[in-house]
Amino acid sequence: MPVKETDREVVLTRPDDETTSVTILKYGATVYSWKLKSEEQLWLSTAAKLDGSKPVRGGIPLVFPVFGKNTTDEYLSKLPQHGLARNSTWEFLGQTKSDPPTVQFGLKPEIANPELTKLWPMDFLLILTVELGVDSLKTAIEVENTSTSKELKFNWLFHTYFRIEDIEGTMVSNLAGMKLYDQLLKESYVDKHPVVTFHQETDVIYQNVSPERAIQIVDKGVQVHTLKRYNLPDTVVWNPWVEKSQGMADFEPKTGYEQMICIEPGHVHDFITLAPGKKWNAHQLLCKDELNYQAIQ
Ligand code: BG6
Repeated sequence: MPVKETDREVVLTRPDDETTSVTILKYGATVYSWKLKSEEQLWLSTAAKLDGSKPVRGGIPLVFPVFGKNTTDEYLSKLPQHGLARNSTWEFLGQTKSDPPTVQFGLKPEIANPELTKLWPMDFLLILTVELGVDSLKTAIEVENTSTSKELKFNWLFHTYFRIEDIEGTMVSNLAGMKLYDQLLKESYVDKHPVVTFHQETDVIYQNVSPERAIQIVDKGVQVHTLKRYNLPDTVVWNPWVEKSQGMADFEPKTGYEQMICIEPGHVHDFITLAPGKKWNAHQLLCKDELNYQAIQ
């Protein structure tokens, strides 16, 4: 069976290759495993909670309607860090395509975490589409403002944790020359380095990254992951390194930061504002590609 549903999760397997699969937890509609020919592509903490008691530490948590902790908006500022989508149980809407195998999940205020919708009383409908390619995984989101009178103001982000061999041998290409906001230094500047490398805690937001740029994770000269984006202008690059990992109870093993890098495409530098009845769409595509160093413009 290409789709297996349990109370907790949905497993989608390619009919032509049972070693390629994706597992989506209903809580947060969180993809927490993507196996390509039996090889896991995503990082998941061994202490991640998969029982709905907290957002999943690893995989692809969904960030909506706010990235980080907001301090200025009347309602968004009441929500916890990264909003309510990753702390709500989504509805499984079923399989929508057989080739490539595709499933959908939905979230609306009536079924979202009631503690959080009380704090952010807005009308919305989210549809997440997960498409399992031969050697790719596409996650697409549609946000609809279901209100007849109020605007919907939100951020969106796919908080993708990629599995890697060794953080110090890893580089991320095709972000050079971009303006970024460093969340640790609280400063904006242009990244002049030809590639991004990691030797300490990193938490930066690259802004207005052209959709033509394929962001590549390269391990000792070999492309291991390629990330393509649609309608997601910002890219967060995050690695907690030693101290931050120590401080996160659900981050295990404590040396796990060596095997992960978060490359998170989103729209977070400013808010999207949707008029009543309007829809907004975006997606990320995780795939394999030739190494392609794109010149700095
Ligand atoms: C990243 C942020 O997206 O998520 C970081 O840029 C944050 O600042 C990280 O620490 C993890 O967030 P959380 O809420 O899952 O611990």
